[in-house]
Amino acid sequence: MKGVVLAGGLGSRLNPLTKVTNKHLLPIYDKPMIYYPIQTLVNAGIQDILVVTGGKNAGEFLRLLGNGKEFGLKHVNYTYQEGEGGIAHALGLAEFFADGEPICVILGDNIIETNVCKAADDFRKQGKGAKIILKQVTDADRFGVVEIQGDHIVGIEEKPKAPKSNLAVIGIYFYDASVFEKIKGLKPSGRGELEITDVNNFYVQEGSLTYEMLDGWWTDAGTFESLLRANNLVASTGANHVRASLPQAAPVAVGDQIR
Ligand code: G1P
Repeated sequence: MKGVVLAGGLGSRLNPLTKVTNKHLLPIYDKPMIYYPIQTLVNAGIQDILVVTGGKNAGEFLRLLGNGKEFGLKHVNYTYQEGEGGIAHALGLAEFFADGEPICVILGDNIIETNVCKAADDFRKQGKGAKIILKQVTDADRFGVVEIQGDHIVGIEEKPKAPKSNLAVIGIYFYDASVFEKIKGLKPSGRGELEITDVNNFYVQEGSLTYEMLDGWWTDAGTFESLLRANNLVASTGANHVRASLPQAAPVAVGDQIR
């Protein structure tokens, strides 16, 4: 399975912090934000990684990450998103990289306490369709939110005013190769973007979307409030813990820490 980190966008909700740099280069405690999603992919046994970025600071990612040596990688792939087309538009740029293989997509501002090794392993077995990861939240109206009947997701709404559950769709997704055809069929939402929630709803309609619940905390970092929360959570409890019992989750040295 290949991995895609989406690190484009204008980060306008963090203005003026993002006036001269990309959101995903901002610090979360002792590391740049993008380190955490890359480590999440590596912890799940994913070595072939594409970083999708954009804007004026795209070159900084190359300077920061290079070939991914700090993560135990031999090579990192990069591509450039022109303009601000939304998450699904950015993902569409990964078609050439994916080359027909299943992918794990992670939003560059999503940080988790634990890991997604089990979900990745389950999706490797699932083989086709898609898998999303859910987390109980108290502010569901900020996220993609599922409606569940019995054991099944029957729909997902993006930032609903009246959420049908308290289960948010976190920004880590597993897709088969059909995701790129689905993206081509999308129309821009009210906020003028191609929405990842619409992609996921295509899989719901097909009956091929599975889900898992996330252990440990999860946060995004795209607003001042969540950026502060991310810093506090990482500073107080750390992120990207690996369960020793899982074979794919080989410890990787990051800076001076073994994770
Ligand atoms: C995006 C997705 C949303 C998801 C969230 C997770 O929201 O559109 O469905 O729940 O990421 O971080 P955005 O960051 O664009 O507000």
